[in-house]
Amino acid sequence: MDMRIANFSQQVGEEGTVKGWVFNVRSSGKICFLQVRDGSGVTQAIVAQNAVSEEIWNAAQKLTAESSVELFGTVSKHPKKEEYELQVRELHIVQIAEEYPIGKKEHGPDFLLNNRHLWLRSEKQWAIQRVRNSIINATYEYLNQNGFIKIDAPILTPTSCEDTTELFEINYFDEGKAYLTQSGQLYIEAAIFSHGRVFDFGPVFRAEKSKTRRHLTEFWMMDAEMAFVDFVGNMDIQEGLIKHVVAYVLNHNQKELQILERNITPLQTVVEKPFVRMTHAEAVEKLHTLGSDIVSDDDLGADDETILTKQFDVPIFVMKYPAKVKAFYMKPDPDDASRVLCADLLAPEGYGEIIGGSERISDYDLLLAKMKENNLPIEPFQWYLDLRKYGSVPHSGFGYGLERLTAWITGIQHIRETIPFPRMINRLNP
Ligand code: 4AD
Ligand code: MG
Repeated sequence: MDMRIANFSQQVGEEGTVKGWVFNVRSSGKICFLQVRDGSGVTQAIVAQNAVSEEIWNAAQKLTAESSVELFGTVSKHPKKEEYELQVRELHIVQIAEEYPIGKKEHGPDFLLNNRHLWLRSEKQWAIQRVRNSIINATYEYLNQNGFIKIDAPILTPTSCEDTTELFEINYFDEGKAYLTQSGQLYIEAAIFSHGRVFDFGPVFRAEKSKTRRHLTEFWMMDAEMAFVDFVGNMDIQEGLIKHVVAYVLNHNQKELQILERNITPLQTVVEKPFVRMTHAEAVEKLHTLGSDIVSDDDLGADDETILTKQFDVPIFVMKYPAKVKAFYMKPDPDDASRVLCADLLAPEGYGEIIGGSERISDYDLLLAKMKENNLPIEPFQWYLDLRKYGSVPHSGFGYGLERLTAWITGIQHIRETIPFPRMINRLNP
């Protein structure tokens, strides 16, 4: 019978086979201790000279770090700790690994990133990807439970969605230039007229020259879009989603959070307490008292976000930014036309923006005027304008960056560790 290490606590006394990799070998006289992982978890496998054949004992002596093995034995509980072990009787070597380049000593980030294909096996990296996977699962779960269906947006597009200076351009046959999508938002807006509530989840691309711990050139975004939902309803859905995601990770990934030495108290607070909602004007005022020199109609810089989020123990919606720093499709604030009905959600503990969202302009003429104001070409956006001609409705949406969310929830400092193979301005390999 094949066994998974993750199930060992329910299999004490049972025998079966574990297939995996040995990541550490320690011998003390007549006992050989193997640290083994099988993808689901790690365990200690004990090969005792007096319990196995001479052939198997000799094979165990040959094992190197990262060798692949099949081990047959009995699951036992550690005499003192809440840990489970495998008492080995048979050992089959699948491959003896060559000398493994990643050792126990400290390696610099460049070395580790160059060896990303191997680094992914390390315990912390294993834990981060498991949490990332849970965030994806929790997102699907929440959205499915709340009436959304997944609609996929194209990756090759004829126009931009966000800032035109951040577009990756490619030659597209006789059609001229194509661009890698920055967000599926505009396309999924079309789908609300068919399904009401929709979301996409896929890779997006930003040719941003930013070299910060928060920026990737390729990352995964979830965009959600809802018909008949206004600016406040939009925030309510986001708050529900983020609480659900954090609660899901706390329930499913205790072990991973432990490996990452993540303090879970701040995460529990996020699940329990309502999020802070403040206007951009209020945020600027607060920032001034905290020593920032932010100009009142400016975007929040990364440092401003860090300072602000350290003031609260829950995420903050910063609402109603100046229109000039936000995208053309955002609905103007009826009380102040210089501002828009948008909100960025900033994660606590200094992490900063994880979601951007807004109510959208639903009026044809206003949208056209905003596009002209922003010097956008009308023809490639005509289809988007059309949506305002046939049964236009108030609608809102938002997009989260999966890696930003993962960095915050895992407590990782740099976003590059949250995606399997990071793409940054100075990194395309491996
Ligand atoms: O704020 P952004 O640019 O919003 C949009 O693209 C909207 N069209 C979304 C929508 O309303 N459907 O990006 C959304 C999120 C950000 O809040 C951030 O979490 C993440 O995407 N993000 C990045 N993550 C990693 N690297 C980058 N360069 C990122 N740029 C944005
Ligand atoms: Mg944004």
